[in-house]
Amino acid sequence: KKGNYEHFMQKEIHEQPESLTTTMRGRLICGGSSKAKSVLLGGLKDHLKTIRRSRRIVFIGCGTSYNAALAARPFLEELSGVPVTMEIASDLLDRQGPIYREDTTVFVSQSGETADTLLALQYALENGALCVGITNTVGSAIARNTHCGVHINAGCEIGVASTKAYTSQIVVMTMLALAVGADTISSQARRVAVIDGLFDLPNKVREVLKLNEELKDLAKLLVQEESLLMFGRGYNYATALEGALKVKEVALMHSEGILAGEMKHGPLALVDETLPIIVIATHDSCFSKQQSVIQQLHARKGRLIVMCTKGDAPLVCPSGSCRVIEVPHVEDCLQPVVNIIPLQLLAYHLTVLRGYNVDQPRNLAKSVTTQ
Ligand code: UD1
Ligand code: BG6
Repeated sequence: KKGNYEHFMQKEIHEQPESLTTTMRGRLICGGSSKAKSVLLGGLKDHLKTIRRSRRIVFIGCGTSYNAALAARPFLEELSGVPVTMEIASDLLDRQGPIYREDTTVFVSQSGETADTLLALQYALENGALCVGITNTVGSAIARNTHCGVHINAGCEIGVASTKAYTSQIVVMTMLALAVGADTISSQARRVAVIDGLFDLPNKVREVLKLNEELKDLAKLLVQEESLLMFGRGYNYATALEGALKVKEVALMHSEGILAGEMKHGPLALVDETLPIIVIATHDSCFSKQQSVIQQLHARKGRLIVMCTKGDAPLVCPSGSCRVIEVPHVEDCLQPVVNIIPLQLLAYHLTVLRGYNVDQPRNLAKSVTTQ
């Protein structure tokens, strides 16, 4: 079942152009005129009015699924105008945090069986919120117990570390934002750009997968390290968290995703000539702020690896002293889908080089069904 691949994680990383195509199949409508471009999510169409009228949208999940929701949050806020908040399922349960009848709660889970997410769903149902599921598993507990939802249709994922489900979850939540957001004249150009971007996304993912050898070389350089930091912000704060999660869970290397805006409030103390730091600085509205982060890290002799938009290397690394990973440019809200792929490849190659089990990392389970 692994075909030409040695590991399921490797196969699942490389099949993302196809899994994303399946996720979007039949859901993107492209008529003749730009006005006819829209999104159809069969499972949500009778609930869109309720979601639009809700006081809050609350994303709830664990691990990679939480990170996917975090990546989609800014675009959902932009298009819906509804406040979007984030909850890690266990933390919501620990706090017994407030959930109201006027809330839309969105449960994100690849397996649809994660115990904490399922218990949080029970809690939200008891509190009278509208409960929406986003899951990869038809017939799973979350799919059955939510009021409505969307199957991500990414295909079966076997590697314990989630890869293709992550990118499909982001795409589904981006489509959710397009479906929930009112089709106003002011948002029309933006909506069309994102829908066009979704159509083209599998091609861009195919392009970024060509960086495989480059990431293998980078993994060789980093194989002996004890720690690796990742700095991101805006749409790509989630990329930093998810990239670091991949590295720690499979390569068993300490890694931390850091919100770049928080750099001066602690993380800067760690910077020296030895600790490798990946900075995500692809082109979006946060770009100039990331340029300044790079300058400040550089001034402290940080060992920088910068992920930037193709052609931007001279803008992010004027002295030529840092290593650069150049990725194709896509619409800002879709950039996390492209940007995570080099980090998935890096985590994969680090794991193989360090001699650890790629598909079944030490102490971890694909689906955590106990608390
Ligand atoms: C559905 C069919 C698909 C068919 C398509 C044709 C299923 C599973 N899907 O896809 O095979 O090609 O119509 O129009 O039969 N749901 C939840 N919670 C969740 C996920 C889903 O309640 O977490 C519900 C949805 O609200 C919906 C149903 O499950 O009622 C199916 O969801 P989904 O597969 O996403 O719907 P379609 O894309 O319309
Ligand atoms: C486990 C998996 O920890 O559960 C992760 O190893 C996953 O890959 C997390 O992100 C949440 O799982 P799910 O199925 O709810 O998305």
